[in-house]
Amino acid sequence: MRVTLRDIQRMKEAGERIAMVTAYDHPSAALAERAGVPMILVGDSLGMVVHGHGSTLPVTLDDMARHTAAVVRGNARALIVADLPFLTYGTEPEALAGARRLMGEAGAGAVKLEGGAAVVSTVARLAALGVPVMGHLGFTPQAQHQIGLRVQGRDAGAARRLLDDALALERAGAFALVLELVPAELAAAVTARLAIPTIGIGAGAGCSGQVQVWHDILGLGTGRVPRHAKPYAEIGSAIEAALKGYVAEVASGAFPTAAQSATMDEAVLARALGGAE
Ligand code: KIV
Repeated sequence: MRVTLRDIQRMKEAGERIAMVTAYDHPSAALAERAGVPMILVGDSLGMVVHGHGSTLPVTLDDMARHTAAVVRGNARALIVADLPFLTYGTEPEALAGARRLMGEAGAGAVKLEGGAAVVSTVARLAALGVPVMGHLGFTPQAQHQIGLRVQGRDAGAARRLLDDALALERAGAFALVLELVPAELAAAVTARLAIPTIGIGAGAGCSGQVQVWHDILGLGTGRVPRHAKPYAEIGSAIEAALKGYVAEVASGAFPTAAQSATMDEAVLARALGGAE
């Protein structure tokens, strides 16, 4: 049975911390299922960690739909949330069309969008039409050219605005909120004032759950690991070592051996080659 919005809400109410991780493809989604991850984000961070862009801005709805569908095929258990990409939800018709693609076609269970007051009416419209929406406050990567890549909500005015945005998104019908790069004290205070769960990334331990980028927690990235991430493995180094071993064995002729090869009857081969020399 797939995890539902009610399950996520029940976890929040029971004080069970919710572990969310990004995934972008079929094998990762299947591994997340085996690890018991209850909620997956097909994040537009795929623009950077999978497609090699410098930001999330070039990511398209086609990208999101393709990756979301692969994740859905790989995982029958988690609630799968897919990001609406940059400038695809500026108007309600656009947001509805995006949600239709990510949920109706790709099979996501919910969508995520970034922003506060500016998206509240869109969230309300989506929620009223049966689209589960996860909000995203604090550092919102799609607005990075406007707000800079830094912790948000440090002064009293910005902290108050973030709380007001969180309350407004909850009233509009968001089922959960990502809080990214927010001081731990503020994230905890916002969490305490909301009925819906908060999912932190660089927002301290006082959130209802945490979300991390797949490549960051598995040591799979090619760039710098952000301060808020903790690598639980060094998969990138393991892959590099394995590939070096493969390259060396191909070069030396040690791979493949008979174990990796098919054989045929020599007489059949001789018949086939007869007269061909
Ligand atoms: O796209 C993403 O991976 C995200 C997380 C950083 C929350 O939005």
